[in-house]
Amino acid sequence: MKGENAMVKETEQAIVHVIGVPDQFNQYVDGAIDDTTLLEALKSLKAQKFIKGHLGAISIVPVTFNDAQNKVVTVGIGNHNQREQRDYLKIWGALFQYLQKERITHIQLHAQTFLAKTADANAIFQTMGLQLEQATYEFDNYSSDKKAPFELTVEWSSQNDYGTYQDVVEAGRNIGQAINYARTLGNMPPNILTPDYLATTVTEHFAETSVEVSVKDDQTLQREGFGLIHAVGKGSVNPPRLITLKYEGNPEQSDDVIALVGKGITYDSGGYSIKSKTGMPTMKFDMCGAANVIGMIDAIANLQLKVNVVAVIAAAENMIADNAMKPDDVFTALSGETVEVPNTDAEGRLVLGDASFYANQFAPKLIIDFATLTGAAIVALGEDKAAIFNKNVERDVLQSLLDTAYQVDESVYELPITETERRNIKASDVADLTNHVNAHGKALFAAAFVTHFSGQTPHLHVDIAGPATTTKASYKGPKGPTGYMIPTIVSWLMSQNNK
Ligand code: BES
Ligand code: MN
Ligand code: ZN
Repeated sequence: MKGENAMVKETEQAIVHVIGVPDQFNQYVDGAIDDTTLLEALKSLKAQKFIKGHLGAISIVPVTFNDAQNKVVTVGIGNHNQREQRDYLKIWGALFQYLQKERITHIQLHAQTFLAKTADANAIFQTMGLQLEQATYEFDNYSSDKKAPFELTVEWSSQNDYGTYQDVVEAGRNIGQAINYARTLGNMPPNILTPDYLATTVTEHFAETSVEVSVKDDQTLQREGFGLIHAVGKGSVNPPRLITLKYEGNPEQSDDVIALVGKGITYDSGGYSIKSKTGMPTMKFDMCGAANVIGMIDAIANLQLKVNVVAVIAAAENMIADNAMKPDDVFTALSGETVEVPNTDAEGRLVLGDASFYANQFAPKLIIDFATLTGAAIVALGEDKAAIFNKNVERDVLQSLLDTAYQVDESVYELPITETERRNIKASDVADLTNHVNAHGKALFAAAFVTHFSGQTPHLHVDIAGPATTTKASYKGPKGPTGYMIPTIVSWLMSQNNK
């Protein structure tokens, strides 16, 4: 999107006017359309049902105003008495996907017609920027026959609106671009996106930015005692990596740090506890927790948020080989504790155990880890919801995060960690801990295992096994990886910034 503001001017493609239309015309904020010819024309077209007002309904109509025949694309914005910030994902998603499909590359936005009495204008246009990127994402794929990428030029009908909202649109675009970066990492095939490739490409991505990247290779991991990451990765010809990303946006309070931890299993075959031929495909997506953490820090840095973040990515490939871990093996974690591995397919909690223990060394106020950790989280909540687990985090802090998730249209629900799970992770006959027991509540067990390694530090564990990917295209974009939790975490940190 080009930012310049100009009134209608000569271009290859005639400018298309974009106008939000509510269920009832009297619901416009005052003066949303000051051109009475246009307003009357729209009213009449709506009465004749050429235009629809329900959320996300797109119509294209010819309207004569300003002494010219104009193409007008209308977008239903529904009922302002019910409309919330989250509804704007549908509104803008429907608009941009329509323009993309029709290859309309030049619009004039009548911004006032999208305002609401019940939703914050900045949030409305931040969501516009977000959806401009997110909803039109296309993976630059490996097929020989590729389409040119879609690019849209948005002119604002009012210079004043452009001046008022350009910053929040830009902020939204930053978040959208971060989501798309995470999606692209997720979409890459696992023979290309190995742990080393991930470390290298992320290092390059953040070169010349305010994010500092450091990488530990397999030998370093082994030497320094990352016994669990090493155990998971050692059966692969593509050895493991630990990637640390640091962003210091609040140097005056340099001890106020949030740690983000991501599961980066670049392929999960299950190892010797091998997955089935239907369970294995899609396991290239087992690094989406890592990708989304990388996206979060990307957006946080681009937005120059006043927070200190350290991100820890545990990248490994879970494979089978003579030297791969096998069921019954025992390994020593970075924490010094021994861990029995009855199930090599429960690899995520192993790498996250070491990564969480490592993250805790930075003395963070809060650790949040993101992982495609268990099929059981999908069984519990369905594929469209994330499960969040709380250890030692104050109720109102978690609640503010859940409120943000709701506003930005992400589904996050709490599941508990109980005494049962805390006991079960220690139910090994031969070691301090075990990565698996034969019991239900497997998402809870995994949460107890991972959070065990961060001591008493407040820790939220987010199991995104379901919503990290989607099998259906939606108003947020195509099927595939979703960048889940990037909008929630970035918006949450933004709102804390403004306090
Ligand atoms: N990566 C999987 C979890 C997963 C499954 C994510 C399906 C997305 C879709 C994880 O490593 C795994 O294999 N978990 C096992 C744990 C079990 C062996 C205790 C599972 O959930 O079946
Ligand atoms: Mn697994
Ligand atoms: Zn896995």
